[in-house]
Amino acid sequence: MRDGVVVVTGAAGGIGAAIVTELLATGYRVVGVDRQPRQLVDERLAWVHGDVGKPGTHRLAVSAAAEIGLLEGWVNNAGRIENTPLHALSDAEAEDTLRCNLYGTLAGTRAALQSFVATGVQGSIVNVSSIHARGAFPGTPAYDATKGAIEALTRNAAVEYGHLGIRVNAIAPGAIRTAMIIDALKAADEPTRLERDFAALHPLGRLGEPHEVARAARFLLSADASFVSGAVLAVDGAAGARVYPFPPHADVPIRAAAAPAPEE
Ligand SMILES: NC(=O)c1ccc[n+]([C@@H]2O[C@H](COP(=O)([O-])OP(=O)(O)OC[C@H]3O[C@@H](n4cnc5c(N)ncnc54)[C@H](O)[C@@H]3O)[C@@H](O)[C@H]2O)c1
Repeated sequence: MRDGVVVVTGAAGGIGAAIVTELLATGYRVVGVDRQPRQLVDERLAWVHGDVGKPGTHRLAVSAAAEIGLLEGWVNNAGRIENTPLHALSDAEAEDTLRCNLYGTLAGTRAALQSFVATGVQGSIVNVSSIHARGAFPGTPAYDATKGAIEALTRNAAVEYGHLGIRVNAIAPGAIRTAMIIDALKAADEPTRLERDFAALHPLGRLGEPHEVARAARFLLSADASFVSGAVLAVDGAAGARVYPFPPHADVPIRAAAAPAPEE
């Protein structure tokens, strides 16, 4: 059993909730941060109810961590996406996305670094980027911009604080089955067709599951990733590797691999 504490933002649902579950199962204590109430009750899980777009939320998370142990890790996962092309994007919607995704990640990274520097902990920070950081998608201009910036911020902090043994990495997921994707499917004229199109983006032939991203976060937080820093780990079924459609060979049967169950 570990006694280290990890802060996870956007912890109430989707990928964040899967990361919390994965870290609790590994033995960490966790501080979950979200605008929503906690879904999971566990004696090793503390909760900060707040908006990552506000600096006070990160201060509260640091204090909550100090109450239950030594802060060793921080996952900046909270994010929002818009569905409006740039010419029609209002200032309010742009501000919401920039504030949550970019400012939230910057302020979370800063809070984690301040704590690691003060305590001398060689901590690990994981920022959740996206396949959108490197590839454009329709109707998500501010989101795409924030994800590109998150990868630049990750490299900056990794280089600036590497001499202290602090590691900073990012994860870039493809389409993962969470509310973010399920809401888009529900809003589509032809949800089944859109889900097939999303799946077809990934050479592995399916959407990813939240626990598959959570495992990558657990790895990057752990000592198994002791020489991994400034990296962006794609968890995208090879979607980001493809620049050409590669139709499957007619003489090879298609067998899309199923996602492993969360407990496997
Ligand atoms: N689902 C995908 O396909 C996908 C793909 C690539 C990257 N991502 C990234 O993964 C992260 C998690 O996404 P998800 O799919 O789990 O989304 P989700 O919408 O299912 O969950 C997001 C969580 O963040 C919380 N949240 C949102 N804004 C917040 C704020 N300002 N302050 C505090 N909490 C806030 C929400 O309440 C929610 O619990 C995001 O950064 C997203 O950009 C998701």
